[in-house]
Amino acid sequence: MDTINTTVNKRKQKGEDMGDVSNGKTNSNSRRIPNIKFTKLFINGDFVDSISGKTFETIDPSSEEVIAKIAEGDKEDIDLAVKAARQAFDHGSWPRMPGCERGKIMNKFADLIDENLEELAALETFDVGKVYSFETNVDIPSISKELRYFAGSADKIHGKTLKLSSEFQGYTLLEPIGVVGLIIPWNFPSAMFVLKCAPALAAGCTMVIKPAEQAPLAALYLAHLAKLAGIPNGVLNVVTGFGDTSGAAVASHMDIDCVSFTGSTEVGRLVMQAAATSNLKTVSLELGGKSPLLIFDDANVNQAADLALLGSLANKGEICVCSSRVFVQEGIYDKLVENLVEKLKTWVVGDPFDPSTHQGPQVDKEQYEKVLSYIDQGKREGASLLIGGKPCGKKGYYIEPTIFENVTDDMLIANDEIFGPVMCLMKFKTIEEAIGRANATKYGLAAGIVTNDLNIANRVSRSIRAGIIWINCYHNFDSGCPIGGYKMSGFGKDHGVEALEKYLQNKAVVTPIYHSPWL
Ligand code: NAI
Ligand code: MG
Repeated sequence: MDTINTTVNKRKQKGEDMGDVSNGKTNSNSRRIPNIKFTKLFINGDFVDSISGKTFETIDPSSEEVIAKIAEGDKEDIDLAVKAARQAFDHGSWPRMPGCERGKIMNKFADLIDENLEELAALETFDVGKVYSFETNVDIPSISKELRYFAGSADKIHGKTLKLSSEFQGYTLLEPIGVVGLIIPWNFPSAMFVLKCAPALAAGCTMVIKPAEQAPLAALYLAHLAKLAGIPNGVLNVVTGFGDTSGAAVASHMDIDCVSFTGSTEVGRLVMQAAATSNLKTVSLELGGKSPLLIFDDANVNQAADLALLGSLANKGEICVCSSRVFVQEGIYDKLVENLVEKLKTWVVGDPFDPSTHQGPQVDKEQYEKVLSYIDQGKREGASLLIGGKPCGKKGYYIEPTIFENVTDDMLIANDEIFGPVMCLMKFKTIEEAIGRANATKYGLAAGIVTNDLNIANRVSRSIRAGIIWINCYHNFDSGCPIGGYKMSGFGKDHGVEALEKYLQNKAVVTPIYHSPWL
């Protein structure tokens, strides 16, 4: 794709720096490089060095240069954070204050996010290469909404009166589960942080958050805002560091009551094992997928192409619900391909701070190389490259938007989560075939259907085994709409009132009842 290569290169020639960045400076008109204010662990309300004094580097994926050195937490730091969270849970005000008071503080946290939207957005763009305009228009506004949604739920958490079969009266109490461990990924650093902490805060829990090592900046900034909002010391702790050290310490901690994890299937399995062999803490896992988008003959071609591009390429394909398998009915196939190719002619890969950019760099070298190796694998397996397939730009982890045709169900690219800007196009004839092939995956996180036929939409949405089905839309997330996996995409919900459940204990209370006129 020439357009894509030249888009990156032209900017470099014009001196619009693609990567020579330093703290607090703007190196091109579009770049809004934030000052990095927070680089230490946030424990018990203070920013502190790690016990070992060790640090790790966080990298700008558009320049491959070091942004900052971040405190590297390990097991001992997790122990300190858990101690603070335990103290705040057992003796602090947070679980004991009226829900409406917790809600008030959470709303203040949301207000502060809105007030500091641009800084937070810039931190994310800088740290992980997310497109800045998307951050300011969609991503960061969605997290203050999420906080407000759960702030509103904090005083509506209640059990039931039970109808018992003998002379007893019973009711249930929903109590905060305790200290929770939240292990989050790098693809939506702020959104994942809030997705996990908002329902836990509403429930009255205290927490230790372990951000991904690729994306520590936004998490530490959010910790600072949480403190400013008035969340008491010890309630929300953030320990930056690596997965096999600080992450593993969260999963196996004897004093953490629940762990909520989003990330790879492989690590999800380790988290569950660690929970099983430590204190049997409850676990919820969101583990990505290989989600199908099904485009039927009657669909509007233009809309279908837009949804296929959105589903596969948004956030550089680094989305758990990404529609990397696009099944297209044979009658509309050629027109759809034509439309996709046409649309990609104006697709810009480049500086994520530039308002004209559609796609920034992959998050890090490891993910970049992983995606490129899947592209090679696709070629070796005999899929035809319709468009893209190469790295682009001289510096930074940029990859062309890539579409494979003639992909068969047995190919690795049709089965593994690639987590990059790679679409696999597959043709089908009948509805039955589409349903069967869409379900032939170990995953079950999401699916999309593009059709104007209500009967097709109803039948297919009920037949696909996945946690969320988008009909004539894609990537429509909402605080009120639960999301979570079937099969090996995991279990437990984020968003929606359902998300509260994992942070609550359901206690039954039973007492004799005398001389009641009825049971
Ligand atoms: P990962 O699963 O290793 O990382 C996710 C989080 O888990 C990070 O905070 C990490 O530090 C932590 N972690 C890693 N090892 C751990 C352990 N042993 N115990 C406890 N926590 C641990 O994901 P990674 O390596 O960054 O990406 C690999 C692949 O995972 C991606 O290519 C993608 O396919 C998938 N992924 C899926 C995500 C989703 O949204 N479901 C998000 C990120 C990655
Ligand atoms: Mg990993």
